[in-house]
Amino acid sequence: MLDVQALAKSYDENHILHNLSFTVNPGEVIGLVGENGAGKSTLLRILATIDKPDNGSIKLFNFSYETKRKNVRKSIGYVPQDIAIWEELSVKENMLFFEKLSYASKSESQLRELCLEMNLDKWYEQAKTLSGGMKRKLNMAITLIHDPNLLLLDEPTVGIDLKSKKEIGSYLWKQAKEHNKMIVYTSHDMDEIKELCDRIICIGHDPFYEGILAKSGKEIISI
Ligand SMILES: Nc1ncnc2c1ncn2[C@@H]1O[C@H](COP(=O)(O)OP(=O)(O)OP(=O)(O)O)[C@@H](O)[C@H]1O
Ligand SMILES: [Mg+2]
Repeated sequence: MLDVQALAKSYDENHILHNLSFTVNPGEVIGLVGENGAGKSTLLRILATIDKPDNGSIKLFNFSYETKRKNVRKSIGYVPQDIAIWEELSVKENMLFFEKLSYASKSESQLRELCLEMNLDKWYEQAKTLSGGMKRKLNMAITLIHDPNLLLLDEPTVGIDLKSKKEIGSYLWKQAKEHNKMIVYTSHDMDEIKELCDRIICIGHDPFYEGILAKSGKEIISI
């Protein structure tokens, strides 16, 4: 379980996250919504151990983010808002490169299988020749190499066609429901959020988002 208590983060005088508390259980898909600048990426970066909060505590399976950072990192897969892959390398070379850096040891066929599960079959093609949606899939496959328990995805479906969106959505759903992963992801597509998420975290006590999501029947945590 991911347990976030009384989290706060400011940039100088700019208070972004105030006293945020929530938990995420294995098997759950959590949607993170809020207007531009609300603090979604900031929260994901903190949960991914890339940024530190000013206050509050976070635990992943009882490992404290402060004292057990290494254990925590092994269980996290993070896909940033901006794609992070090697453009000059092929899909295969990207996967092999990141496998070397990862905590896991995977064979080439296992790495290929990870890509195929997301319908990314351009194994020998240079990353720069892939479409935006395919690059996102590759970035996601890279993140899954070490089999993380907590997946943090910053706008994984932005700017991609409906078919790929559905593929990514059902892939994430499967990861949660069949492999008991925790998934926290952001999106500005409220239809997708309503369809895919078990619960929704709305940052900023925003009546606009709360109104749109109220009819979804999903639990909304407004923070
Ligand atoms: N490194 C930083 N230094 C100073 N301010 C920052 C930094 N990173 C983010 N901010 C500010 O924090 C606020 C929240 O930014 P964040 O990127 O988390 O928003 P967001 O909800 O992800 O927005 P979007 O929907 O546009 O992606 C913004 O006002 C942003 O300018
Ligand atoms: Mg963002």
